[in-house]
Amino acid sequence: MKFRLLCSLAALAALAVPFGGCQKASTDEILVGEFASLTGKEATFGISSHEGTVLAIEELNNGGGVLNKKLKLITEDNQSKAGESANAVNKLIAKDGVIAILGEVASSRSLEAAPICQQNKIPQISPSSTNPKVTETGDFIFRVCFIDPFQGLVMANFAQKTLKAQKVAVFTDVKSDYSKGLAKFFKEGFTKAGGQIVAELDYNGGDKDFKGQLTAIKSANPEGVFVPGYYTDAALICIQAKEIGLTVPLFGGDGWESDQLTKIGKESVEGTYFSTHYSPDAGGDKGKAFVAAYQKRFGGKLPDAMAALGYDSAMILADAMKRAGKTDGQAIRDALAATKDFEAVTGKITINAQRDADKSAVILKVEGGKFKYIETIAPTP
Ligand code: PHE
Repeated sequence: MKFRLLCSLAALAALAVPFGGCQKASTDEILVGEFASLTGKEATFGISSHEGTVLAIEELNNGGGVLNKKLKLITEDNQSKAGESANAVNKLIAKDGVIAILGEVASSRSLEAAPICQQNKIPQISPSSTNPKVTETGDFIFRVCFIDPFQGLVMANFAQKTLKAQKVAVFTDVKSDYSKGLAKFFKEGFTKAGGQIVAELDYNGGDKDFKGQLTAIKSANPEGVFVPGYYTDAALICIQAKEIGLTVPLFGGDGWESDQLTKIGKESVEGTYFSTHYSPDAGGDKGKAFVAAYQKRFGGKLPDAMAALGYDSAMILADAMKRAGKTDGQAIRDALAATKDFEAVTGKITINAQRDADKSAVILKVEGGKFKYIETIAPTP
């Protein structure tokens, strides 16, 4: 793996330098750790997020770095596998000596790393994990995105107002903290507004056959099906729903966002909707500049929410380090907690008392194999 190779090259170089361990910082650079799902089931999450992060670090370094030092990003791939994030973060902290950790996209994997960061007093910034428990782990854990009580409510309102659905089914991935949380918050919002949950079914992320549960859902006659899962499973669920004749709208949350959703799901995902954090079609000057820079750097590819949030996570860290004037964990933590009205690509970021960011959600529709921007929903004050 490229990232491990980097590490062993550094180890080789270290042979010439007494006491130099793997990736230990030279005095003119600041080491920042990142863990991401660069391969495996949710690879597009990790790759997008990583690319956004890399772009931010490059821009910061081209502008002279932070505190007169260049930033060096050390990235570990957790292969989308449970258990690997803990290994990655332990290595980044204990062996490499990073001053902060960026990651992850998936809530379950951020939750795996958070207690380790907290215990070592190394600030962790998740770009895009939305489960509330992530930052509840402790005062060194931050995120630059909204959380699922908000996202669940957004989709509950959307189902009632736009889809005109009063009876819906919910199909949850019980292996994912994200999915279980988002299902719960959606149900609370939906029933509070007078809607009815007519069926609740479960699957395990990575399953291939969803037809049994989909048949049960169909027989409950819902007017829509909420699937708070990740893109590979969501695409297969859309395909198999069509196959069994379940034709009511399917809709989900940010976990649906991947070009693989349409590559796998093809015409079966047409007309579906999902909520997410960002659309390259909606945004001010900062957003436009980011889209242009990202496309230039990554071969014309349009950035998705994870790319934008990955970028923002690195920029927020740099801003905190500048305000702290130093790189020790406590000082960065305190500066991060004081972040106010930071102009980010995904909107203005103020870190609130729970170390989360109150931000708008966007709703996208799958149309013609693309994600069409529908609307922006601001958080209720
Ligand atoms: N919010 C999801 C989670 O917590 C991850 C995600 C973020 C997926 C953004 C897609 C886009 O697991």
